[in-house]
Amino acid sequence: MFYIYSTCRNSRSYLLQIRTDCSRATRIPLQYPGRKDQQKYQQRTIMATFADAPPGDLAAGEKIFKTKCAQCHTVEKGGPNNQGPNLGGIFGRTSGTVAGFSYSKANKEMAVEWGENTLYDYLLNPKKYIPGTKMVFAGLKKPEDRANLIAYLKKASA
Ligand code: HEC
Repeated sequence: MFYIYSTCRNSRSYLLQIRTDCSRATRIPLQYPGRKDQQKYQQRTIMATFADAPPGDLAAGEKIFKTKCAQCHTVEKGGPNNQGPNLGGIFGRTSGTVAGFSYSKANKEMAVEWGENTLYDYLLNPKKYIPGTKMVFAGLKKPEDRANLIAYLKKASA
């Protein structure tokens, strides 16, 4: 398959968008038929990794944490475990290792090292990333939401 590189989603004709002034390159297949399909395609594959995601916004990330995570998690270092484990010091930590928290077998056995990349993938769909996890959370589908949240987590959990 052939690709052109573009980031400018709103241009009328994306087939002609070969631009160099966009900060973040994304791949769009040349033979793509229509705008609707293009959007679907982007949702699936573009910004599929943390490296492709937009830079995180701390304030927006804090808001997401407060509304979607804080009912189960504390984030400051040394904070208490709640329904979910304390997330203090999460960056660089192996999954399932907070003392005093009773994890599922699945979470412990995953033994993934939490960092930007792994959190970005996990938070898209926790149940898919760790089948059998007991974390009840549907996931954050928008790449920017995950990038914002990760920016906040990085600061708040340090
Ligand atoms: C309804 C409660 C709940 C919500 C909401 C929730 N979590 Fe969790 N979370 C849990 C539980 C319970 C676990 C432990 C899962 C297991 O043992 O399988 C967990 C585990 C985790 C882990 C793995 C921790 C480790 O030490 O391995 C991370 C990271 C995490 N959650 C982040 C988040 C973030 C970020 C959000 C918000 C987007 C969130 N969670 C929302 C309950 C929740």
